[in-house]
Amino acid sequence: MPTLAIASLKGGVGKTTVTLGLASAAAHAGVPTLVADLDPQCNATTALDPGETEASIATVLGDPRSSTLLSAIAASPWSEHLDVLVGAEETESHNHPDPRSYRVGRLERVLGRLPAAGREYGLVLVDCPPSLGQLTRSALFAADGALLITEPTMFAVSGMRRAVAAVHEQAQRYRKPRPISILPNRVKPRSVEHQFRITELREVFGDLLLDTSFPERTAIQQAQGACRPIHALRGKGAKETAELFDQLLRQVRGQFSGRR
Ligand SMILES: Nc1ncnc2c1ncn2[C@@H]1O[C@H](COP(=O)(O)OP(=O)(O)O)[C@@H](O)[C@H]1O
Ligand SMILES: [Mg+2]
Repeated sequence: MPTLAIASLKGGVGKTTVTLGLASAAAHAGVPTLVADLDPQCNATTALDPGETEASIATVLGDPRSSTLLSAIAASPWSEHLDVLVGAEETESHNHPDPRSYRVGRLERVLGRLPAAGREYGLVLVDCPPSLGQLTRSALFAADGALLITEPTMFAVSGMRRAVAAVHEQAQRYRKPRPISILPNRVKPRSVEHQFRITELREVFGDLLLDTSFPERTAIQQAQGACRPIHALRGKGAKETAELFDQLLRQVRGQFSGRR
């Protein structure tokens, strides 16, 4: 199943925001989508507001049987096409620095059980925690591609260098090359400093940097505050933001089909 890990080494840069925007775009387009909430802070789960479940992604990482997996997935009221593999604080207990490969393969094993459990998705989005611990590594291992989010600030290039190096190092170690895309978020189009940082990112990372970048938009915060998909909001800002997420969805899905 096409799986995208949305990651960054820092918190607060927009991983969950982009996960939710892509989920909104995919569901709007009728693509059966699963959001796997790997972040112990569970912000994606809170926003997607699924019904109660008996288990969570933390349970499934420890016990990847199909029955447990099914009891950790619930539908989101956002759309009939959207499910959530729900997050939990306890997921942190799977984040210890353990280099043994069987741990890194856990999420892949879990997601690999979806078809046998009767769940076929056109897209799986993994919202990662803000670090490069076991959880993010397991998401990179399970994913067909990584979308790395950054803000266009002074530390963006150095932070992104570490993130890209980590994805490459993992790809080499497990012989699993993965396409990487870098998405600048919270860009202020009129900020000279932001434009300078984006040019810098382009010089260092070339084609890894997507043409799409996300502006700072109040509509994004309104949608999150109301726990609603951006595609359901009215107004010019919401409409333009929803279209940007549609465009991003086409780009990331195009990347998968390019690999197959
Ligand atoms: N493009 C944007 N425009 C406006 N607010 C944003 C944007 N991207 C993120 N935010 C806000 O920034 C905060 C952090 O974003 P979040 O997606 O939770 O980051 P992360 O998941 O990387 O920790 C949230 O309050 C979110 O609403
Ligand atoms: Mg988050």
